[in-house]
Amino acid sequence: MSPCRVCSHPIREFFDFERQPLSSAFPRPGELDQEYFFRLAVGMCESCTLVQLIDAVPPERAHHQGYPYHSAASSVMCKHFEQTARRFLETELTGADPFVVEIGANDGVMLRTCGDAGVRHLAVEPSGATGVRAHRAFFDVDAATRIRDTDGAADVVYAANTICGVTDLRPIFEGLDVLLAPDGVFVFEDPYLGEIIERTSFDQIYDEHVFFFTVRAVGALATRYGFELVDIERLPVHGGQIRYTIARPGRRAPSPAVADALRTEQARGLAELVTLERFAARVQRIRDDLVALLHELRAGGARIVGYGATAKSSTMANYCGIGPNLIPFVCDTTPAKQGRLTPGSHIPVRPVEAFADPYPDFALLFAWNHAEEIMAKERAFREAGGQWILYVPQVHIV
Ligand code: TYD
Ligand code: ZN
Repeated sequence: MSPCRVCSHPIREFFDFERQPLSSAFPRPGELDQEYFFRLAVGMCESCTLVQLIDAVPPERAHHQGYPYHSAASSVMCKHFEQTARRFLETELTGADPFVVEIGANDGVMLRTCGDAGVRHLAVEPSGATGVRAHRAFFDVDAATRIRDTDGAADVVYAANTICGVTDLRPIFEGLDVLLAPDGVFVFEDPYLGEIIERTSFDQIYDEHVFFFTVRAVGALATRYGFELVDIERLPVHGGQIRYTIARPGRRAPSPAVADALRTEQARGLAELVTLERFAARVQRIRDDLVALLHELRAGGARIVGYGATAKSSTMANYCGIGPNLIPFVCDTTPAKQGRLTPGSHIPVRPVEAFADPYPDFALLFAWNHAEEIMAKERAFREAGGQWILYVPQVHIV
């Protein structure tokens, strides 16, 4: 049995997706022999209850072909990051000459909004390519020390969709201990295990999501590394996330939301293996239903295309064995993905203009986390008689 990445106790496996590719490595048609595969399996730590991947992709493999995240592709995500900045400006960045740091930085929308309000800000991001002032490094004690020596302590350190992919969390917390002001906060948001189970959104599980947090597991994690979980907030974005606020111990009174969430998690059995085994059974059901539906529609002569070449849909397509035989192409707004193939499943990625040229009979929504935004934008597809196929929380047609 593999040891937990945080507390070293054994991890109990509850699902094995078997051989899976890197979810953001979109090969060119001539590069298929170079694809890297690993065993995608998940389990829960017997002791601290943290749900995590059993095998992680070695770091020298993981970063070879990632795509920078573009919140600009989603107006909902842009608004989300702007609102996050405004919240920080109102509640945390209120002292004299405040300083905000983002780990990962996405495409810089949060930091730019703070910068526009005159607040000192810095991205800590190895690629640096975010259009904001950046320290090009992974966040650890060394980076934190350099930043503190140059800019002073940080009032807020923020990370969105980043911490769940960091296999070794200790350097993050060691860095926070160096960089955070005495009353500073570390705020991070990631997909929530409770939501993944509720929606059976199994495709949140892929190489770049190593941890699937709960309030209980994050509370234990914070304590272990010398901090305290003082607040949580549910977020609707990306299929349901939680934003965790972590402070130095005793500096802030924990909000009632933390205790409430712990009670809810207990009632829902989120720390019990049997809950995850039931989830696993529902995942298999989704696969069987989806594959049967696609075959049935194709047999009836229907044309089906995919919409949104997300990282998460890599798990769906590869686990279900869906390739170009069932879905001739998937359309996506990201230029760097267009002209390439989906990882492992080898479905050609085409620009969104291909969607209406002509409209298919059905569109399988790979980017279901943006369902509302995409369906609103593509209203003409439904008006032309087209139908959306969703596979979360179960296979259904709308
Ligand atoms: P994302 O939300 O980042 O999900 P993941 O983390 O699983 O990759 O990816 C959304 C993808 O969908 C991205 O490739 C851009 C694409 N997309 C569209 O093609 N059209 C749209 O309207 C939106 C919102 C996204
Ligand atoms: Zn553990």
